[in-house]
Amino acid sequence: MPGDADAGRALFEQGTLKIQACATCHSIDGSTDLLGPTLKGIATTAASRLAGQTAAQYLITSMKTPNAFLVPNYPADLMPVPEATEQQYSDLLAYLLTLK
Ligand code: HEC
Repeated sequence: MPGDADAGRALFEQGTLKIQACATCHSIDGSTDLLGPTLKGIATTAASRLAGQTAAQYLITSMKTPNAFLVPNYPADLMPVPEATEQQYSDLLAYLLTLK
């Protein structure tokens, strides 16, 4: 299912009733003053997070099962699993893959 990066960016920034806005906890400019790690460069970093997972696979894993890999110095069970449809996951993924 091809994702739409613009739709993904809107979800990231604004969320929906069922998806907490990612931007509440994640910067994309490298600043670390929010609850979650910055996602600056995540399209690149993602490929080295979990052995055997491509960047795209890891990014889906990190949304559906956030505790599968914990970013150093960040706690488990803080990131909410978005109640996203498969299309919305694809859109979020397409957007995250632009964050090189
Ligand atoms: C309440 C705060 C919060 C919200 C909202 C949130 N996250 Fe997170 N997220 C975290 C925390 C804390 C971590 C680090 C712990 C972990 O790895 O699970 C994290 C980790 C991640 C990672 C892994 C980063 C890495 O460097 O490996 C990705 C990708 C991610 N979040 C994407 C998202 C997306 C996309 C959304 C919106 C659908 C979102 N997050 C919403 C708190 C949040």
